[in-house]
Amino acid sequence: MKRYTVTTSRPYDILIGESILGNAGSYLRECIDPCKISIITDSTVNGIYEQTVHRSLAESGYDVTRIVFPAGEQSKTMSTYTNILESLAEEGLSRSDVIVALGGGVVGDLSGFAAATYLRGVRYVQIPTTYLAAVDSSVGGKTGLNLLYGKNLAGAFWQPSFVLCDYKTFETLPAEEMLDGVAEASKCAMLMEASLLQYIRARDYERVIERCVSIKKSIVEADERDTGIRQLLNFGHTIGHSIEKLSSYRISHGLAVAKGMVFESRAAYRMGLTSFDATETLTAALEPFGFDLRVPYTTDELYKYALNDKKIKGDHIAMVIPEKPGRCVLQKISLDDLHRFIELGNEA
Ligand code: NAD
Ligand code: GLY
Repeated sequence: MKRYTVTTSRPYDILIGESILGNAGSYLRECIDPCKISIITDSTVNGIYEQTVHRSLAESGYDVTRIVFPAGEQSKTMSTYTNILESLAEEGLSRSDVIVALGGGVVGDLSGFAAATYLRGVRYVQIPTTYLAAVDSSVGGKTGLNLLYGKNLAGAFWQPSFVLCDYKTFETLPAEEMLDGVAEASKCAMLMEASLLQYIRARDYERVIERCVSIKKSIVEADERDTGIRQLLNFGHTIGHSIEKLSSYRISHGLAVAKGMVFESRAAYRMGLTSFDATETLTAALEPFGFDLRVPYTTDELYKYALNDKKIKGDHIAMVIPEKPGRCVLQKISLDDLHRFIELGNEA
């Protein structure tokens, strides 16, 4: 078992281990006194892990209730968020109480945003049950939901009070959801630590989660509110978010990011922004897992949604450009050049 402390405005611990879910209550008691806890989860995870967590929390002296919404990215909406807030109010959750987000990135993002805003902020705990949530979304305090215009357009920075990651839960995760984690972990490798690719390939989950969490921790500590270096974590996301939106979220976040990383790398190389063509490294890392890296949209379609990117400031955007395996940098390009960039990425 490994423990990391994230030293953000509100520091918190991350516990990573195998088969630790059944002891969630005792781990929580190390940092949270008995109180009311509302477990927020989705319809799939509810049927697999809610009871285990519920029982463990209750045995440790917490007064536990539960909110369940339909599984999937389609639920990451204002209407689910409103229902969650109304349910929290109905349960009478107070400012000294706690939300537990039990599930993947959708549960984590929505529950975190509810925690950030309910009664102007209550504590929450992340219990990630997907590979993607374990390596990325459960850490760092980015919370939010999708608007009609695109991904994650409403949200807040709100750090969790504790993260408990039990990678034994991956045993019930469908293969295609595992790919989403492979994509985000590969992103981490391309940004900071190329040697991580070999552990991803070997499916050494413990090691991959520990390295990704450790890398993300250092980035978030340096730039909690995403005004500089944290934007590197958005490698592949400008195009990735457009793909997700254009597919009406039928293409999952991780797969869209995988496609986006290859696309943006190709565009950056062809535009002369880097002498390193990262497409080969990425393709070699991702294709053996069965990723389909093609992007089935036109340049104009992709450009339209890329204009919602949060890395845009005024008339330019900060793009994440690979310099070599394990190193990327932010480079400003104008919004006019962004169209050309996408065109170059989209050419065969
Ligand atoms: P998800 O939460 O939709 O989970 C994927 C599917 O797996 C769901 O159907 C879920 O019910 C099911 N599931 C979850 N755990 C399971 C388990 N152990 N066994 C069986 N089924 C299980 O998707 P995700 O890939 O975890 O997360 C994607 C979301 O995360 C996107 O909305 C993305 O924007 C967000 N995200 C946020 C951050 C952040 O920093 N906040 C970072 C990356 C991604
Ligand atoms: N997943 C991007 C971030 O946390 O900044």
